[in-house]
Amino acid sequence: MTALEKINAPPTRLGGTALYDWDHLVQEDRAHRLIYTDPAIFEAEMTNIFGGTWTYLAHESEIPNDNDFITRRLGLRPLIIVRDSNGKIRALYNRCTHRGTTLCRWDKGNTKSFQCPYHGWNFLNTGKLRGVPWPEGYAEDMRDPKYNIAQVPRVESYRGFIFATLNMDALPLTEHLGTIAKIIDEWLDRNPGGTVAVCEANRFRYKGNWKLAYDNSCDGYHVAYSHRSLLETENRFAGENAKGMAYYRNSPDTQPMYMRYTGRGNHFKDKRPNLEKRPGGLWALESAHPGMEHYEAEFIRRYGDRAFALLDLAGSEPVNINVFPNFSLLGNHIQVFEPVGVEETNAIWYGTMIVDDGSVPSDAVTDINALRMRTQEGFPNFGEVDDIANFEQIQRGLMAPEDEWVYMNRGFGIPDRIKTHDDGSITAPATDEAFMREHFKEWKRLMKARPNLAIQREP
Ligand code: FES
Ligand SMILES: [Fe+2]
Repeated sequence: MTALEKINAPPTRLGGTALYDWDHLVQEDRAHRLIYTDPAIFEAEMTNIFGGTWTYLAHESEIPNDNDFITRRLGLRPLIIVRDSNGKIRALYNRCTHRGTTLCRWDKGNTKSFQCPYHGWNFLNTGKLRGVPWPEGYAEDMRDPKYNIAQVPRVESYRGFIFATLNMDALPLTEHLGTIAKIIDEWLDRNPGGTVAVCEANRFRYKGNWKLAYDNSCDGYHVAYSHRSLLETENRFAGENAKGMAYYRNSPDTQPMYMRYTGRGNHFKDKRPNLEKRPGGLWALESAHPGMEHYEAEFIRRYGDRAFALLDLAGSEPVNINVFPNFSLLGNHIQVFEPVGVEETNAIWYGTMIVDDGSVPSDAVTDINALRMRTQEGFPNFGEVDDIANFEQIQRGLMAPEDEWVYMNRGFGIPDRIKTHDDGSITAPATDEAFMREHFKEWKRLMKARPNLAIQREP
């Protein structure tokens, strides 16, 4: 590729007013409402966060073959994620170099080239301009690389998860992920072949800032209240054998679960200690849904002793893994937060399937994936709606200008409640807001930085 085109850091508005005094806006135990409501702060985030750090884009299984593509976004930048004709994964700006039109208006497909709908400029899927209609109308040599599509200079995958950044100084992805990578490994390794394939998405959009979703991603404090109807539904038929998220119902901090912050805004909430370590332990936690008994009986008939280990592959892993700023693994889902505007966000839930690697009977793979669809319908349809209602109501509450602060001080200042480990990671009880205090330190670090951003074009 050609030399990088350096992007100047956004015009700094730091220092002049209290509005951009980040240490004032985000303090140890509270954050100012403006970070959720101010359009100028949102604009700076689109550069310093969604650009300045690694952002999740897509999963490799969504573009399995050469010339496959999907359209996504990096912050507000429209992108085409493509596996080009040589098999290389690229993140092309979905923007014609002529006059800026969205080049590809499809969500996904397979093509060797993209033709702009406006005046017909045609680009190879490497980003190179292939030709323009009636080139004799140009005095200039249209082979100048400046006409090739802009692309994100750094695109890296971690075990199938594709991340990207414009920041030339960002650490390599694996180093950036640090110890959260081990938890991602555990999430993957229980599946055949240590991988999953991504299915179609369950899409939500809410009228609220994107950070409200990330602030909630590790929040164990709200569950018993916000998701009360879901907990009651899950447990109506369960009697003593509490299902689903029932372990939140009494005193969550005394239950075998915890939250851990691993650095750079990443954290996870681990409810796996609630699991009985036996085949069927995970399946036993799964909340009731239509058809379960039929599948269970059929699996026992077909696979005998192996049935419950197979049914566990349909169960939802009780861990929430969050990679700042926009990626969560929860249950069997991948959730992605996509900013639309300062007060609007897409919250997209991608289901995942197991793949047939020969280690599981083929007919079981189909049935396990059918069951996974059911288990994956549960939370987004009956739980996410509670969370989204909260996000919209927070945004509404934050429109009151005089009442300035939101508090994230639960667990703060209580001796011995929070443990710092040798590797710098932090463990706290499930309802603590330590995760939020920590990811806001990363947010502030990125907002204060002058990131070394660049784009790239084919030569
Ligand atoms: S804007 Fe794409 S060809 Fe003119
Ligand atoms: Fe929730």
